[in-house]
Amino acid sequence: MNRILFALTPMTVGRSFWMPARGSTGAEGVDRSFYFVFWVSVCFFALIVGLMVFFVVRYRRREGAAPQASPSQNLPLELTWAGIPVILVFVMFYMGMKGMVDLATPPAGAYEIKVLAKRWSWLFEYPNGHVDQDLHVPLDVPVQLLMRSEDVIHSFYVPTFRVKQDVVPGRYTKTWFRATKEGEHLLLCAEYCGTGHSDMLAHVIVHPAGEYRQWLEDAANFVSRMSPADAGRRLYRIQGCAQCHSVDGKSGIGPTFRNVYGYETVMAGGARVLADENYLRESMLNPNAKVVAGFDAIMPTAQGRMSEEQILAVIEYIKTLSDRGTPSAPETTSGPTTTQVSDERP
Ligand code: CUA
Repeated sequence: MNRILFALTPMTVGRSFWMPARGSTGAEGVDRSFYFVFWVSVCFFALIVGLMVFFVVRYRRREGAAPQASPSQNLPLELTWAGIPVILVFVMFYMGMKGMVDLATPPAGAYEIKVLAKRWSWLFEYPNGHVDQDLHVPLDVPVQLLMRSEDVIHSFYVPTFRVKQDVVPGRYTKTWFRATKEGEHLLLCAEYCGTGHSDMLAHVIVHPAGEYRQWLEDAANFVSRMSPADAGRRLYRIQGCAQCHSVDGKSGIGPTFRNVYGYETVMAGGARVLADENYLRESMLNPNAKVVAGFDAIMPTAQGRMSEEQILAVIEYIKTLSDRGTPSAPETTSGPTTTQVSDERP
């Protein structure tokens, strides 16, 4: 019996049959509310069903027994069965309300990270301008998220933090937490948002207090620390290229990046252009100069958004996607052929 109780209710770290281990300061209050409601429900279920079964057996119809008149009223009994549930419901309301207000009120001076949700990925923008696909936070520091969506409703959800907040297009939503456990935590989208809903997986990486600043500095300089093709793949994701350009050969809003480099492409107007480095660079900086036949001239320019070094990195990445380009490095062979490009963590 003790083992069952232990499995059903968290003792210290909070891991149980129902919940993963706790990873934030807010988790305990959420668990307390949950287990309170849970055990109240279990007790009443046992009491009501138990009495029902008992009465059905005990007072079943028997040969020769005449039915007796039922009592029509019992004031103390009625007050009891109305009063106890009313008290319990008020306790639940108080716990829930207090928890909700706590979760909705970030402490003053919390560290702010901006979140962009879109079909089907998360982007996290740090105060120094670095953009990452994972959420990196310092240990034991209140972190506030300012969240927006580019398309439909998504929901930011970190089970170990017990944090869940809808991300709604056309408005900002906020949430906050203070992480108490170092390492990786799963982050997912908890609102069905289309075909790739289940791809909206990311991680929260909690860094020890002293190491976070260093991580952030290094992360912002990833182009100079990675191979150009790897940096290009990363930029492809975080600069938003992935939304319009697939890497698997399928056309999207824009042409695919697969087998572009080294091939001739037909432009609107009929001209044939060989896609080399200069063409790719021009397509990023001046997208309307040459528009591929069958596509609209809607691509935003990279001018002012990407450095020459970053543009070169994206070109190197596009070259690895072409059988006439650079053969990809052994450790990245599986990456470019699918849309699920796994990303190295700095
Ligand atoms: Cu985004 Cu589901």
